[in-house]
Amino acid sequence: MRRVLIAAAVACLAAVGLSTPVLAAGAGSVKLQAGEWSFAGPFGFFDKAAMQRGFQVYREVCAGCHGMEYIAFRNLADLGYNEAEIKAIAAEYEVMDGPDDEGEMFMRPARPADLMPTPYRNDNEARANNNGALPPDLSLIAKARANGADYLYSLILGYDEAPADVEVPDGMYYNSAYSGNLIAMPQPIYGDDVEYTDGAPSTPEGLASDLTHFLMWAAEPKMEIRKRIGVAAVFFLSIFLIMSYLAKRRVWADIH
Ligand code: HEC
Repeated sequence: MRRVLIAAAVACLAAVGLSTPVLAAGAGSVKLQAGEWSFAGPFGFFDKAAMQRGFQVYREVCAGCHGMEYIAFRNLADLGYNEAEIKAIAAEYEVMDGPDDEGEMFMRPARPADLMPTPYRNDNEARANNNGALPPDLSLIAKARANGADYLYSLILGYDEAPADVEVPDGMYYNSAYSGNLIAMPQPIYGDDVEYTDGAPSTPEGLASDLTHFLMWAAEPKMEIRKRIGVAAVFFLSIFLIMSYLAKRRVWADIH
């Protein structure tokens, strides 16, 4: 029995400890850099300041090509914005509404309940504007790729001179993190692309890290709650295990 108990305790601890992602061995020459993430591990949390900066970078740099159509403005409350700030952010965008009394669709300033508008009306327009390549929606991208956080961080920082033996066709760019190393997205971040108001470093690494915080939140906004419940469940089960063991000892005390 004692051995079973020890094994169960070890399993509980391992379940908590092993939830940090393991870097993939990498397909071919794909190279990933591991970042330091506040949201990693069983006690992970979202860094609100980093997410707000990441949202700023998304708006000022990425939103020209990538939509985030599953995020409503009111969801930005998770980033620490209050109602008035969210209203003000939403009002900077226009969304289509209607039909009006004449049956016409019309544009109006966005409200907190609206989803964020996308840069293109449809995939065909998106491709036509990007040499035939489709910039994917970024709402869920952090969960749609293996090692989401490290991958996004590495992808944004992965632009490099192509090695001599790799030919880069027109409209393609060399990227050490992208599968196949040739991507149709031009390098989006060079450092100092946006002006941060909180004095955080706007180096390429800083911007890429902030973006990753923001995109991880977008893909799994309920992560903090999930992890908190997980930790509480493991804690409860550990207590329960000890109590079951003590009860067992008592019940079997007379039997030798
Ligand atoms: C000029 C337009 C443009 C801008 C600006 C841009 N992208 Fe892209 N992005 C693209 C295109 C086009 C693709 C598709 C690439 C392909 O299919 O080869 C893409 C693909 C991606 C992908 C998917 C890679 C994969 O694994 O499939 C991610 C993630 C991404 N972009 C993130 C960003 C982020 C973050 C920013 C802002 C810092 C950004 N992009 C800015 C055009 C853009």
